Amino acid sequence: MTGPYAEVIGDPISHSKSPLIQKFWLRALGIDADYRATHVTPDALPAYFAERKDDPNWRGCNITVPHKVAALAHVEDHEGVRAAIGAINTVIRADHGVLVGTNTDAAGFAAPLSGFDLAGKPVTVIGAGGAARAVLFALTGIGVGPVTLLNRNVEKGAALLSSFGLDGQALPLDGAVPPSALLVNTTSLGMTGQPSLDLDLSALPEHAVVYDIVYAPLETSLLAAARARGLATIDGLEMLIGQAAVAFALFFGAEAPRDRDAELRRILLG
Ligand code: ATR
Repeated sequence: MTGPYAEVIGDPISHSKSPLIQKFWLRALGIDADYRATHVTPDALPAYFAERKDDPNWRGCNITVPHKVAALAHVEDHEGVRAAIGAINTVIRADHGVLVGTNTDAAGFAAPLSGFDLAGKPVTVIGAGGAARAVLFALTGIGVGPVTLLNRNVEKGAALLSSFGLDGQALPLDGAVPPSALLVNTTSLGMTGQPSLDLDLSALPEHAVVYDIVYAPLETSLLAAARARGLATIDGLEMLIGQAAVAFALFFGAEAPRDRDAELRRILLG
C-alpha cells in the first residue's frame, strides 16, 4: 500500500458494506486514498495493531464482529467509551503512531434524530445487546425522558438501564409498547433469516418516530407497521451511513458528502 488508506477488519469480513460507502465518498470528493476490507482473526489482532501503528499511511480502521470489545485493549480511550459502551467500532492513528479508539455508532444513530424534539420525551428501546448500549449512550446525550426497555431477558434489560442511570423500566419483549415519542429496534429481529418483530404499535402517538437499525430488508415488518399507521420512520441504512460518515471525517479529514445519500443508498441496495 503506497498512499493513505483506511480499512475495515473483522472475521468474517467479506459481507462488510464499509468499503462501498467509504470508497463512494473518496471518489465523490476526489480524495486520493484507499479503503479496503481486511480479514483479521482474533489470534492475529495484537499483531495487526502492532504492525499498523508503525505505518504512517494507515489512517485507521473500522472494526466489526468479533473484535469490537477485544480491540479496546490496544487503544487509548480518550472518550470513556469503554465504560459507557464497552465496545469500539473505529480506531484512528494519531500522531506518533498512537492508536485512539472511538465508537461512531452512537453519533451515527443520533444523526437522523436531530430534526425531532425528543428532549424529556418517553422512549422505548427493544434489545439489550451491544447495539442497545450505543443507542442508550446516544439517547442519554439527547436527554430523552423515561426509557422503556423491552427485552427477552428482562433482568439484562434492567441492568443495562441502571448502568446508564436512565429513568424507566425493563419489560418482556411480549409486553405492550407504551406511548412513546420514539421506538427503536436495536436487535437483529426482523433481519432476513431472523424471526420478525411483530409489535402492537397502537399506543404510539401520531407524532411518534419508529427507528429500526436493521437494513436487510430495508423495510422490516416493524417499519411497515409504522408506515401503515402513518408514523415517521428511520431505516437501518441511515445509521449505517451515519456511523460511516463520522469515521470518514476522522480518517480523511473531510466531511462525507451526505447530499449524495440517494445515490449511495441505491448502490448499497444494489
Ligand atoms: P448486538 O451486539 O448486535 O446488539 P447482541 O449483543 O447479541 O447483539 O444482542 C442481541 C439482542 O437481540 C439482545 O437484546 C437479545 O435478547 P437477549 O438479551 O434476551 O438475549 C436480542 N435477541 C436476539 N435474538 C433474539 C430472539 N430470537 N428473540 C428475542 N430477542 C432476541
